[in-house]
Amino acid sequence: MQPVILAIESSCDETSASVIQAGKVLNNVIASQTVHQKYGGVVPELASRAHQQQIQHVVNEALTSAGIRAGQLNAIAFTRGPGLLGSLLVGVSFAKGMALALQLPLIEVNHMEAHVLAHFIDDPKPDFPFLCLTVSGGHTQLVMVRDHLHMEVIGETRDDAIGEAFDKAAKMMEFPYPGGPLIDKYAQQGNPKAFTFPQTSIPGLDFSFSGIKTAFLYFLRDHKKNDPHFVELYRNDICASLQAHLVGMVMDKLKQAVTHTGINRVAIAGGVAANSGLRKTLQVHARQSGWRVFIPGFQFCTDNAAMIAIAAHYKYLAKRFASLDVAPLANLSVGE
Ligand SMILES: Nc1ncnc2c1ncn2[C@@H]1O[C@H](COP(=O)(O)OP(=O)(O)OP(=O)(O)O)[C@@H](O)[C@H]1O
Ligand SMILES: [Mg+2]
Repeated sequence: MQPVILAIESSCDETSASVIQAGKVLNNVIASQTVHQKYGGVVPELASRAHQQQIQHVVNEALTSAGIRAGQLNAIAFTRGPGLLGSLLVGVSFAKGMALALQLPLIEVNHMEAHVLAHFIDDPKPDFPFLCLTVSGGHTQLVMVRDHLHMEVIGETRDDAIGEAFDKAAKMMEFPYPGGPLIDKYAQQGNPKAFTFPQTSIPGLDFSFSGIKTAFLYFLRDHKKNDPHFVELYRNDICASLQAHLVGMVMDKLKQAVTHTGINRVAIAGGVAANSGLRKTLQVHARQSGWRVFIPGFQFCTDNAAMIAIAAHYKYLAKRFASLDVAPLANLSVGE
């Protein structure tokens, strides 16, 4: 059976829906929320309300543009977690309502597993097992991926996520939210060796980004004491140096993970996988070390329902359905 599945993503501040037919993603409709910009970060209550306003329209557009009628669907999939509870609730409730009305099975998807499975939307698809470095707004994880349904975290951040480090550093420089993509943009015109930051790495495969965040705060404070226009004058060099430092931190762990596991098929996933510095550094290192690397298309790095759809496809084939009383889980872990 080659199912037709409608997938809904609403874990944070993107309302998204996608239709997948026979393992082929037909579309990926995304409504981003701009309401958070003036607050410098996602406001959970506003995110939840914006999902409520957008979800019906986004789902209709996904079905219409795929040329699929509700009666042709075989299942409804949704993100169960991790994410903001109020945001998740909107997607879960909408999916349950549709499943009940159409008498269809429900499929729950783990958002972090879906980030990894985004690699199965397009070719080339990685062979199993492979390592995935998932770098996003809320997580930084090294994942051992055994197959579509079995993966385990072998290293993760003990404090902040790398996306948070990018966004907080950008906020310190008074860039609008989310600042990660802006740091990337300015970094491309700067000198990555202009400034250095202290090494704040911890032993093993776990990550820590709280140290570099604090170090960056003091770096700006000290330079601004001498020159209040320091950020305006050296913006590109500051961004390039910080980005090179953060990329270096995750590359070090990735190299350790390859040595530790003996697996040299390496993928990256999550919003920060869109970072040009990380993509380039990984490709250069892969050429030098004989790694096979897998880098998703930009549209499948940040939150999207296409990744929920591909994850749901494999769950459907394995007949892993959710019960109608399933509830969202804000802290769902990989493999849970
Ligand atoms: N080019 C880029 N360079 C650096 N960071 C980027 C880039 N593009 C996006 N990001 C960062 O990616 C993050 C968003 O990624 P994503 O949507 O996967 O996170 P999330 O869904 O909020 O978190 P999670 O998936 O952990 O729940 C933000 O922190 C954003 O700044
Ligand atoms: Mg995400």
